[in-house]
Amino acid sequence: MGCSIAIDGPAGAGKSTIAKMVAKRKGFIYIDTGAMYRAMALYLLRSGIGAGEQEKISEKCKEADITIRHENGEQVVLLNGENVSSLIRTEEVGNMASASSVNKDVREKLVELQHRLADSADVVMDGRDIGTCVLPGADVKVYLTADSSVRAKRRFVELSAKGEHCDLSKIERDIVERDERDMSREISPLRQAADAVLVDSSSMTIEEVAEVILELCEM
Ligand code: C5P
Repeated sequence: MGCSIAIDGPAGAGKSTIAKMVAKRKGFIYIDTGAMYRAMALYLLRSGIGAGEQEKISEKCKEADITIRHENGEQVVLLNGENVSSLIRTEEVGNMASASSVNKDVREKLVELQHRLADSADVVMDGRDIGTCVLPGADVKVYLTADSSVRAKRRFVELSAKGEHCDLSKIERDIVERDERDMSREISPLRQAADAVLVDSSSMTIEEVAEVILELCEM
């Protein structure tokens, strides 16, 4: 097992932007576990499975081969050999990812992949359960959060920049709903690990957050 930094927190807290910056500065590999749940969700949506159909999700997830590759420091997600990185960032896929990530079989399959990746390199891994379940022995653990209105605005700006039509109040409603589901699910709920450092980024810049985490890495 290499060196590992775990960054968990609710939707839109800036985990992936920060994790990417920290990974670059440390020379570690960045692993976005949300992208794996999103790729699985895309597969399920394409298979015509609804968010509540847990038995079908358990069955169908076995057919999805999700792998991760790194190209020029960027993570590329492959779903049965197809590069789906640009297809998984929609709100539809995010909401399905949240609904299907409650499934035990989905989680087992993706956590196994996460363990394999963390065993083979020094990593910055972001998600919901990294510090609590996936890498309980991580060298640095951060719980990154921000007010839901701030997170909704950030996501709105991100989606609008990509040309996606979106409605700010709907994004905030979805974020709050997704957080509730992620925090209240039975398996690996989103929560701050006892030994994680809480960082509230509501009024911080990305650079300030990255600096705080890099300082924790030096301690
Ligand atoms: O972080 P992102 O918004 O891409 O994650 C999408 C969904 O995947 C989350 O809402 C959460 O339900 C699920 N997820 C998870 N465990 C992780 C990462 C993501 O359950 N480690």
